[in-house]
Amino acid sequence: MVSTTDDTQFWDKAARKYAAAPIKDTIGYERTIERTREILGATDTVLEVGCGTGTTALKLAPAVGRLIATDVSSEMIAIARGKVATAGCTNVDFAVAAAGDVPGPDAAYNAVLAFNLLHLIPARPSTLSSLHRRLKPGGLFISKTPCLSEMNPLIRYAIPIAQFAGKAPYVSCFSAAELEGEIEAAGFTIIERARHGSTRKDARIFLVAQKPTDQSPKRG
Ligand SMILES: C[S@@+](CC[C@H](N)C(=O)[O-])C[C@H]1O[C@@H](n2cnc3c(N)ncnc32)[C@H](O)[C@@H]1O
Repeated sequence: MVSTTDDTQFWDKAARKYAAAPIKDTIGYERTIERTREILGATDTVLEVGCGTGTTALKLAPAVGRLIATDVSSEMIAIARGKVATAGCTNVDFAVAAAGDVPGPDAAYNAVLAFNLLHLIPARPSTLSSLHRRLKPGGLFISKTPCLSEMNPLIRYAIPIAQFAGKAPYVSCFSAAELEGEIEAAGFTIIERARHGSTRKDARIFLVAQKPTDQSPKRG
């Protein structure tokens, strides 16, 4: 699908409404938080991309050493920063950055998180490669992504209409298998896949992918 909006502007405009909207499937959301906490280590340095208003970052921060949470929208980040004092977290930094263009050195993170984001990024292959570079060898890329081609086909008609009206951002339609293929093509190995939703058919795939520890070129 082709974007009909400037997505940074779209997300800036959407930020207040997004912050006020309730989480749709709280059971599924808490399962994802719980599993991610189990996977992350207490001393890990973690990058979150597309963090929105920081809800997930602030829930996960007590389980890790340091968390840098980023989003392309400065309005989302402003709301997230406003929550830090109340949350009482001292190990979280929020910064404005596109997922494929996070500043800083390579091999800096033990884990990279991307929740409800990958379907919103047109340049997924280059973004995934960039995030792969940011991870230390053996580091984990943990994502949860709605796979629109597994949803009601009517959504494919509804989205372009909403985009035309400026009511929806860029959105990609792919299956979980296609997404896994893209993540593997960026150099990761998928080590866990799950559906955490409380409904019978959950189109959001939770994936844990690992950057191999041995990056040396293989012979023939
Ligand atoms: C659906 S919200 C998800 C927010 C949060 N991760 C969550 O699960 O509630 C998508 C977020 O991704 C951000 N976003 C969209 N495109 C992005 C990009 N290319 N790089 C970084 N963030 C992006 C938007 O600003 C928005 O905050």
